[in-house]
Amino acid sequence: MNILITGAAGFIGSNFMYYMKEKHPDDMLIALDKLTYAGNLKNLKGMEDYPNYKFIKGDISDRAFIYKLFEDEKPDVVINFAAESHVDRSTVDPESFMNANVVGVGVLLDACRIYGIKRFHQVSTDEVYGDLPLDRPDLFFTEDTPLHASSPYSACKASADLLALSYLRTFNVPVSITRCSNNYGAYQFPEKLIPLMIANAVNDKKLPVYGNGLNVRDWLYVGDHCSAIELVAFKGKVGEVYNVGGHNERTNLEIIRTILKETGKGEDLITYVTDRPGHDRRYAIDPAKIMRDLGWEPTVKVEEGLKETIKWYLDNRSWWEEIISGEYQNYYDEMYGKYRK
Ligand code: NAD
Ligand code: TYD
Repeated sequence: MNILITGAAGFIGSNFMYYMKEKHPDDMLIALDKLTYAGNLKNLKGMEDYPNYKFIKGDISDRAFIYKLFEDEKPDVVINFAAESHVDRSTVDPESFMNANVVGVGVLLDACRIYGIKRFHQVSTDEVYGDLPLDRPDLFFTEDTPLHASSPYSACKASADLLALSYLRTFNVPVSITRCSNNYGAYQFPEKLIPLMIANAVNDKKLPVYGNGLNVRDWLYVGDHCSAIELVAFKGKVGEVYNVGGHNERTNLEIIRTILKETGKGEDLITYVTDRPGHDRRYAIDPAKIMRDLGWEPTVKVEEGLKETIKWYLDNRSWWEEIISGEYQNYYDEMYGKYRK
């Protein structure tokens, strides 16, 4: 089987490549990535000596390129990770999110419709449901929760989900969708909460907490997300949406305090900065459906996974130091200077 994995040089995509290498040794793994600021070929270094692997650089919203790729590579299964993924960036440049996360998905779906496919799997997010109040810990997102996105990022992801489902109903393209909570682990770009706070703590830089730090995220170790995606893409029912999460809700301050403790730094590094516009209060997934229907189980608790992740960032300093020393510094100065005094 030929499996096309888009966005493969990013955080979750690269972790998924390593997962698939073990799980599908006889299948051809075709990694596609535009290599935006978030895509890094170094993330795929461990794939290079694997015979059933190739990397192709390209943009999922480039129609001619995608059609040619489908003609040449004849993918049986497409798993789409490619997206602009950072909420903060979507508040300053929404258009790039519309191009990658909506137009790009539309082009992939058209290619699937024209060239034929066994499965198109869309990697979506729990952020399509909007947020939950902080004072109702009894509430969780289920697959029936109405879509109610808050940011340009999540609105574009919700649009992609609707497009995918419409291509099943109208053109019979076999699609499936997973909506996962916040991931953490190796190779996450240091603009997201956990790697940014680790890098700042290690460098004795201030840790910028948005608002009062009491917003809640439901953290899932990236390996547990990979196992859920593989299960749904190959064993899940066509047309179904599956929520993915492991009941690991923590406030941002709880996560930050753990990072400070593990890196041996003091709480004086914490600094409260202007809140993110439209900041979602709480995400919390009810994963009952994927557990019941497909037997998926998360394997890593957040305290254990966070320790492992901190260790990975400490052992792989050159990976993130290279990133934060380049173009990323301009983003950081803009975002945390002009927008967040
Ligand atoms: P990431 O930003 O680390 O990686 C995205 C990758 O997509 C990058 O390698 C980038 O170069 C590539 N890309 C962007 N636009 C492209 C285009 N037009 N054509 C081809 N490649 C393109 O993001 P991530 O955290 O790995 O997220 C991967 C997917 O998982 C996204 O679709 C995201 O919405 C979803 N997701 C992420 C999380 C999370 O916590 N990180 C949670 C749930 C769902
Ligand atoms: P993030 O990692 O950007 O993921 P998402 O917004 O998709 O959930 O942010 C996680 C939480 O951390 C979110 O509530 C915003 C907060 N946050 C900060 O307080 N400071 C920061 O510098 C960043 C990047 C995030």
